[in-house]
Amino acid sequence: MAVRKINSDVFYVGAIDWDRKIFDELIPLPDGTSYNSYILKGSEKTALIDSVDPEKEMELLANLHELGIEKIDYIVSNHAEQDHSGAIPLILEHFPEAVVVTNQKCKAFEIDHLYIPDSKFHVIHDGDTLSLGNKTLKFIMTPWVHWPETMVTYLEEDNILFSCDFFGSHFASSKLFAEENPKVIEGAKRYYAEIMMPFRSTIRKNIDILSKYDIKMIAPSHGPIWKSPNTIIDAYKEWISEKVKNEVVIPYVSMHESTKIMVEYMIDELIKKDIIVKPYNLTRTDTGELAMSLVDTATVIIATPMVLAGAHPAAVYATFLMNALRPKTKFVGIIGSYGWGGKMVDQLKGLLANLKVDYFDPVLVKGRPVEDDFKELDKLIDLIVEKHKTLNEE
Ligand code: FEO
Repeated sequence: MAVRKINSDVFYVGAIDWDRKIFDELIPLPDGTSYNSYILKGSEKTALIDSVDPEKEMELLANLHELGIEKIDYIVSNHAEQDHSGAIPLILEHFPEAVVVTNQKCKAFEIDHLYIPDSKFHVIHDGDTLSLGNKTLKFIMTPWVHWPETMVTYLEEDNILFSCDFFGSHFASSKLFAEENPKVIEGAKRYYAEIMMPFRSTIRKNIDILSKYDIKMIAPSHGPIWKSPNTIIDAYKEWISEKVKNEVVIPYVSMHESTKIMVEYMIDELIKKDIIVKPYNLTRTDTGELAMSLVDTATVIIATPMVLAGAHPAAVYATFLMNALRPKTKFVGIIGSYGWGGKMVDQLKGLLANLKVDYFDPVLVKGRPVEDDFKELDKLIDLIVEKHKTLNEE
């Protein structure tokens, strides 16, 4: 149990999930996560902000009892994904007088996914307020961070923004505040890479909307709370900007060393040219690490052997993922080895339709690389160096 006091009327009643190692059966969580839920005690009404994953619903209930909560008037639901809404049905069972306060889209999702009856909802709209007596909640629609219905709730008198997934981190910590643990910002970057990166332009608009508010604390629904909101807001601004770094990410797979020899050659030569290089062996890498490196790299070189006339399935998966995450990468190259032929370049390029990138000429080698092949790699490396000189110029 983890009831913590944030101020005299605001309490953390969420659950830390130390053991969770994967989310959506897709995203690795090396640092676990938390499902943050908050109780706001107004002079007249009590509100619960978001719930927790159903796996932890008994913990939420126990926290509410520990805090002595006998009545909940409002359950504010900022987002319908089940890690925040999944315990609402249980809370409604135990606090039958409560109504779920959310927007129309979120209501529809929660009827579909959680069977919450229509009569249990109080629908609000962008800019609406709700009084708890001496406290006022303001609802701000922030669609596509990261579902279409996502919204945030601002507690006006305390200047606290309850941002749900926005500005969150998959980071289990006994420390309540992010500033007490320097690793949280890395967790937040991983979270951004895996969850938010595909929505860069809408995030930009949503940050602009939030800039009108005097936010003194950001209380997300995953990971620690930001006591200095600018730390995470400025980090987001950098991640969503068009600026890229002088880096080359190399997701690679090699079956009989030929592709690996090419990768190792590129790593050594790029280091000599003062370019940061981040290779990821796709058969054993944490895809979250790869996603994080895609947040601001200028170039990605996909390295794969030809298998059954196409790229290795591990490279296909990584390429598909990259396309889905829509990083701001500027340049992509494809290198690798083959035995007798195939169409992996067209295949991989076809998988990257979402990205606006310039492609380097591929370097494909029959068998193990020989002197002429290394010359081709040298040309590719020179071109990368040349292109990187013009980064962030506009
Ligand atoms: Fe943490 Fe989109 O749910």
